[in-house]
Amino acid sequence: MIYSRIIGTGSYLPEKVVTNADLEKMVDTNDEWIYARSGIRERRIAGEDEFTCDLAVQAAQNAIQAAGIRNDGIDLIIVATTTADQVFPSTACLVQQRLGISGPPAFDVQAVCAGFLFAIDIADKFIRSGSARTALVIGAETFSRIIDWTDRRTCVLFGDGAGAVILGADREPGILSTHLHSDGKYKDLLCVPTGVSRNYERVKAGTAYTTMEGGEVFRWAVTAMSDIIDETLDANHFDRNDLDWLIPHQANIRIINAVGRRAAIPPEKVIVTVDRHGNTSAASVPLALDESVRSGRISTGQHVLIEGFGGGFTWGSALIRM
Ligand code: COA
Repeated sequence: MIYSRIIGTGSYLPEKVVTNADLEKMVDTNDEWIYARSGIRERRIAGEDEFTCDLAVQAAQNAIQAAGIRNDGIDLIIVATTTADQVFPSTACLVQQRLGISGPPAFDVQAVCAGFLFAIDIADKFIRSGSARTALVIGAETFSRIIDWTDRRTCVLFGDGAGAVILGADREPGILSTHLHSDGKYKDLLCVPTGVSRNYERVKAGTAYTTMEGGEVFRWAVTAMSDIIDETLDANHFDRNDLDWLIPHQANIRIINAVGRRAAIPPEKVIVTVDRHGNTSAASVPLALDESVRSGRISTGQHVLIEGFGGGFTWGSALIRM
């Protein structure tokens, strides 16, 4: 049997830090409200000339270096993003060109904040089927570009960043299982209701912004992300005590804490970066994973459950042996 394993992780954050105090100067809000409701203190925002592809390439290069492979050893590139540089080609093709790789398939996956889980699932299947041996999987976003910076209900929550992993073929399983779900009937609760084919005039006017029913999204995120923990553990006949770490999507500390409580995972096993990153959508999980690997919290042989939840709704998880 062939399995996929994570053989390297990387991430990248734009230099510009925007604190809650900075936001107080832009909208009618304050640090106390933002921190109490979301757990966020600051987020990174891409520079005007910095695009999703730039963030993705930096994260990819760090992951490639950690894996100790050559760029030409990569035979699959998947980028999970909601904020592609261009309508086409895909951001994955732009990354491929920047890395000097020619030939292997490169494509984007769009499942908003759950995108990285969808991308990992696909890459794992490519490797298990023998279609690829080494995959570069990236979650990268410049979510700040689809935020209305005059809307205090949304602008305080999001940030920009990128995270990446290299998956390699192995006789020992690294990705133990993946689980994906979507339910399009909730499409209006969290969305940018505009694009190329619909309401394009808003794109031209520069008002293609994220809208959200915060309370509904909150409830759904908690239910979906705690239920999928049970689904993942059951599929692997795992007890929750066998888990070393949980990396939930970093949207909001209250969602993260509620998921941990419902799933009976102690807080000391739950990775939290939302205080410094905000919600970086598809980048949030690989960013948190890379930080935890590099800081030595997550180590080889440990079991990590990663999970995401986003607009659609979409949600997914993976159980990983590092
Ligand atoms: N600063 C100060 N006040 C704010 C504010 C801000 N940034 N944003 C909203 N408010 C106000 C509201 O206008 C409202 O005032 P009102 O009662 O006078 O109308 C009040 O705060 C309470 O708003 P409410 O929406 O009820 O707050 P909440 O406790 O539900 O928290 C969220 C709002 C958005 C933080 C919360 O619903 C949430 O976290 N939802 C999930 C969001 C998310 O993670 N989405 C991405 C998932 S991938």
